[in-house]
Amino acid sequence: MKLGFIGFGNMAQALADGLIYKKAVTPNQIHACAKNWNKLLQNTQPKGFIPCQDANELLDKVDMVVIAVKPHHVEEVISPIKEKLKDKIVISVVVNYPFEQYEKILAPHTHHLSTLPNTPVAVGEGIIICENKHSLTPEEYEAFVKLFSQIALIEEVETKTLRIAGTLSGCGPAFASLFIEALSDAGVLHGLPRDISYKLASQMIVGTGKLQLATKAHPGTMKDAVCSPGGTTIVGVTTLERKGFRSAVIDAVDGIMRK
Ligand SMILES: NC(=O)c1ccc[n+]([C@@H]2O[C@H](COP(=O)([O-])OP(=O)(O)OC[C@H]3O[C@@H](n4cnc5c(N)ncnc54)[C@H](OP(=O)(O)O)[C@@H]3O)[C@@H](O)[C@H]2O)c1
Repeated sequence: MKLGFIGFGNMAQALADGLIYKKAVTPNQIHACAKNWNKLLQNTQPKGFIPCQDANELLDKVDMVVIAVKPHHVEEVISPIKEKLKDKIVISVVVNYPFEQYEKILAPHTHHLSTLPNTPVAVGEGIIICENKHSLTPEEYEAFVKLFSQIALIEEVETKTLRIAGTLSGCGPAFASLFIEALSDAGVLHGLPRDISYKLASQMIVGTGKLQLATKAHPGTMKDAVCSPGGTTIVGVTTLERKGFRSAVIDAVDGIMRK
């Protein structure tokens, strides 16, 4: 499988880095094109990825193409290459570009799937939300899942829940980073070295998430399990409740959905 990225910014590089990190592909299987050639060379050559002058050159070399430009660039990028895209597996990572939107701009019968990855794909611990309405053949979809499940949990959702699923997984890393930073600040306040503080906070998030995924335990039960009567953790939990921790998180997501 040869993979090509049209647009090689933050998200495309996170996907490419994750695939290399997990040895899912070799660097010379990854091709990329972008607007600024010098920047593209800097982002590809040191890692052994293949830079292409433009999308036309890229499409001559790859089987699967990932559209990874900003939403307002999608139409201008696709319109000159839409005939060539008919013969490829087209994967979009563009926010707010579901199946029906692509049907308006791609050539009829193009095989395409709209997805929303998050940045932890770079270390093989990502999430890729996939719209359940797509035009890939079963074999093509299987090839996509086989490749990308090596760096992410692949979760199929209906079109109407694509945006909220993408918000949880795509904006969540910013919220989790705030929590890691705040917890680490508290550690430093009480004498823990900064690097140890970050390490403990981050691994705690990783471990808690993995525990929930493995056991499917209700998060409330997991909270109860570390709150002994009259103990220390419950002091922290009740303080967070008084400060509106949970409602702040819910309001943050609600605010995004209303934007
Ligand atoms: N970042 C995330 O967490 C995240 C999560 C989910 C989905 N997404 C989606 O991923 C897409 C890319 O986001 P990003 O954060 O990676 O953006 P980004 O870092 O700004 O990257 C955009 C890329 O598009 C390239 N580009 C612009 N015009 C082009 C053209 N005419 N032809 C070819 N390439 C062109 C840019 O090239 P130059 O740099 O040379 O200008 C750059 O490589 C967006 O649609 C976004 O909605 C992002």
